[in-house]
Amino acid sequence: MAKNELLVVGELNVDLILNGIQGFPQIGKEIVANDLTLTLGSSSAIMAANAAALGVSTAFGGMVGNDQFGDYVMETLEDRNVSTAFVRRSDSHQTGVTVVMNYDEDRANVTYCGAMEAMTILDIPWFEMSNFKHFHLSNFFLQKGLHQDITAIFKKVKGKGLTTSLDLQWDPADVWNFDYKECLPYIDVFMPNEAEILRLTQENDVESALKQVEPYANTIALKMGSKGSLGIKNGERVQTSAFKADVYVDSIGAGDSFNAGFIAKYLQGAELGDCLLNGNLMGAINTTMAGGTEAFKDKKALQKKIEQLQHIKTTS
Ligand SMILES: Nc1ncnc2c1ncn2[C@@H]1O[C@H](COP(=O)(O)OP(=O)(O)OP(=O)(O)O)[C@@H](O)[C@H]1O
Ligand SMILES: [Mg+2]
Repeated sequence: MAKNELLVVGELNVDLILNGIQGFPQIGKEIVANDLTLTLGSSSAIMAANAAALGVSTAFGGMVGNDQFGDYVMETLEDRNVSTAFVRRSDSHQTGVTVVMNYDEDRANVTYCGAMEAMTILDIPWFEMSNFKHFHLSNFFLQKGLHQDITAIFKKVKGKGLTTSLDLQWDPADVWNFDYKECLPYIDVFMPNEAEILRLTQENDVESALKQVEPYANTIALKMGSKGSLGIKNGERVQTSAFKADVYVDSIGAGDSFNAGFIAKYLQGAELGDCLLNGNLMGAINTTMAGGTEAFKDKKALQKKIEQLQHIKTTS
């Protein structure tokens, strides 16, 4: 059997996205949104679906409930060419849901975690692990069942010969209980954004935050929104600027699309700068349609957008 390339382990949920909201929600009052989209949510699922859209053979390890949203998640992943062979269905937990209230370039999210909290180290498909080349884990803080074993998980994955990446994402509890000194040595690519690395290290500026993390990290890929991204490897820095798309809808999942683009290149053995640029490109494409995966659904349209954005970049 040919080796699968990417195993994404993480949370699964649907996103209910509200756009064009008339004001801000207040207790005791009702406001109206002009647009609703039901879509595959969750950082990890967006990363997996978009990596598959870029031609990476991808499987998912996670947990959903035995409910309609769970069916929707499974069908959508399969529809996007992500294998659900290692996704478990829980009878005792409902599928997670995130209600996204979108305001211009930012959003307010409410997440019901459900089954994603129940997954533990034992639910990871260890017997199949050596059939994969790369392991990516995302949204650590939402997956409470993985917290105590996170270093053991990455250590074991490395022991099976895979390369690894981690996108911690934000900690909704704002506790940031992740021992980066212990865990980062087992992570080949650490993929935070600026706000996250500041909170994790309890520093006030990004430079000081990077200094804290650098001694323990292999490669850092720092996401900086419309400023692009910064890579650090063996003390060397690679700064890249963002791509400029002609349309902007929202940036939900831009970071996950960046991860997909970066890892797709990384799997080809590309240089850090090329991995970052491919991440930036997919992050920018992500912003041209609602949610994290819409812009990656149609292969032809995706290819056209890739060419358009690369053209704008080389001619500006
Ligand atoms: N408005 C934008 N215009 C162009 N590119 C963008 C824009 N927003 C994001 N990107 C690209 O996508 C990458 C990742 O986005 P961002 O920095 O917002 O990640 P994030 O904060 O992890 O996002 P998420 O909220 O999805 O987790 C950026 O490094 C950049 O290259
Ligand atoms: Mg992110």
